[in-house]
Amino acid sequence: MSYFNEITLGVCYYPEHWKEELWPEDLRRMRDAGITMIRIGEFAWNKFENQEGVFDFSFFDRFLDVVRTTDIKVIFCTPTATPPAWLTLKYPEVLAVDLDGRKQYHGARRHYNYNSPIYRDKTRIITEQLARHYGEHKCIIGWQIDNELNCVTNEFYSESDHEAFRTFLQERYGTLEQLNSAWGTVFWNQTYTEWEQVYLPRHTQRDTCNPHLRLDAVRFFSESCISYCRLQYEILKQYLPDHVFVTTNGLFGHVDYNRMVNEALDFITYDSYPEFGLMEGADHLKDRRWSMNLARARGTVKGFGIMEQQSGPGGWYNFRVAPSAKPGQIRLWTFQSIANGADFVSYFRWRTCSFGTEIYWHGILGYDNLDNRRLEEIRNLSKDIKKISGMAGSRYQAKAAILYDYDNEWDGETDVWHGPLRRYSHLGLFQALQEEHIPFDYVTVTPEMDVHTLQQYEVVFAPHMTIVNPALVQVIREYVEGGGKFITGARTGYKDMNGRCPMEIMPIRMTDLFGIHILDFTAVMPDSTDQYAQMDGQKIYMPLFHDILTPVDEACVIVATYCSGYYQGSPAIVRKRTGAGEAYYFGAAFDCKTVKTLLRSAGVSSGLSCWASVPEWCETAVREGDRGACLFILNYEDKWTEIQLRRTMKNVLTGNEESGTIKLEPFGVLVYEI
Ligand code: GAL
Repeated sequence: MSYFNEITLGVCYYPEHWKEELWPEDLRRMRDAGITMIRIGEFAWNKFENQEGVFDFSFFDRFLDVVRTTDIKVIFCTPTATPPAWLTLKYPEVLAVDLDGRKQYHGARRHYNYNSPIYRDKTRIITEQLARHYGEHKCIIGWQIDNELNCVTNEFYSESDHEAFRTFLQERYGTLEQLNSAWGTVFWNQTYTEWEQVYLPRHTQRDTCNPHLRLDAVRFFSESCISYCRLQYEILKQYLPDHVFVTTNGLFGHVDYNRMVNEALDFITYDSYPEFGLMEGADHLKDRRWSMNLARARGTVKGFGIMEQQSGPGGWYNFRVAPSAKPGQIRLWTFQSIANGADFVSYFRWRTCSFGTEIYWHGILGYDNLDNRRLEEIRNLSKDIKKISGMAGSRYQAKAAILYDYDNEWDGETDVWHGPLRRYSHLGLFQALQEEHIPFDYVTVTPEMDVHTLQQYEVVFAPHMTIVNPALVQVIREYVEGGGKFITGARTGYKDMNGRCPMEIMPIRMTDLFGIHILDFTAVMPDSTDQYAQMDGQKIYMPLFHDILTPVDEACVIVATYCSGYYQGSPAIVRKRTGAGEAYYFGAAFDCKTVKTLLRSAGVSSGLSCWASVPEWCETAVREGDRGACLFILNYEDKWTEIQLRRTMKNVLTGNEESGTIKLEPFGVLVYEI
């Protein structure tokens, strides 16, 4: 469900940064620019509790009294991202501690730890006070918990965290014997004989750490974050009417967002800063790469919002210098978010702050407060948004799925054998699917996942399923039997859920699914000449790693063979039919060009061709719902481009019926009714 009937534009506003006389005029100018929602309060703890236990709501009451004179709606925040100085001075144990054991002192933000009993208590009190006071306020349509949980740091090493980790492990393993066995502590004499000996990772020789401990530590970081969010969620829900939602803004590392949404939120929002993609060091997909993050948000929950959408150039006084969005790019990024499934877009921020760390993180308005081109662009685009407002609640239509699996993601962060493959392949798959206009979803592996989840997709990729989840393998089997195409990449199937490598033939539990054994393999060094395979008469690029596949089943068909190396001529890609579907084993990391060839060979094509022919540098997306369906075409290039329409369609933004060749301006957007 969506809490939004209409696609809505909002903005992040900080009443505490401005003179009160500015408030009415700011709200009037927002409304005039088509902005109908504001987010407030996320860093303002002292405005509510300036001294321990002394609560005063008059500041935000006065502000909301002004809001009440308009039709602007409010997302109110709990202010726990920035604990007050009085709190951290009196209770230093609430401070976050890094791996080096250094406390993160007052002065920036997110300087607390989730497991401190005192901080949890203080959180409970401020959340309850705010919920009691503002819960029924007519202007408030939703709440944001904290701000960007797990941003800045997503690992915590305070005394409270070590203690909570022990409790987490006791619940997971019961006894120390089980823990020792799960972590293989007999290796290098790591055996624990008392729970007090167990810690989260600490500095060790060469900074290595037991990999199974490390995996459980990340699971624990996620658990801590979710539990802290749930603490606030449960309090808020006691005081809020049903139609008022509770969310938080993400997405950051070491959080299982599917669990967070299931247990501690109504839905998730994403903070989208596509400009990071335009900066030095970013890949050639640039701002378009942000659609990958939007797909992750969509994979977490159908129906999400953008709590912070970039509007001005970003940068702190001591961190990052970024270019301004060129004319048209704010509009493009707004449509990027909506095309990818967002039901609301709230810009960061109304006016650039004239003091503090973020003096260069520009908002819509500059320090001078004058009307500018950014405001003008938003005012104009808001008229376009009105024309597609009925798309709220509609769903992004995907043909392909990429399994997103937290266990493998987290294991791959430190495992240098499969981690780099994952990162390479995520990009390769994303780029290939984007450029071929084959829309995809990330489907997160959850305990609730069943075959129906996968059956909606013609093809499912599981880039490198190193850790094998037996329940997932069962779902994949059913999917293939029912007619699905399943494709996995190198290094699939050699670890159990603790990240240990069982004494079994690889790919473990799946040898019959692909009809192969993997008896030999090799990493492929960057300067190696052995990086290719032969497929349908073409040379295809097979980077990073080679699994050398041995067919053991007559039904296993060899799709490609390695071109060189001591294993020249050995199978590199195979497929096996089971029931009505097929399972492919792909022996390397997924390169964009190779994926395109593979998609063609597997008969997976774009559904777009019945409507239009669109160059690969434009993104396309279809959203469909009860109130109709729209095709979005987004031009990320700073140049005119041509689109060929294959049928006559109504351009929703101009109201014209169009056909034939359409010229699309630099950073331009087209929306057609289909
Ligand atoms: C976000 C954060 C905002 C602001 C913005 C620009 O990550 O939520 O509060 O800091 O970045 O730095």
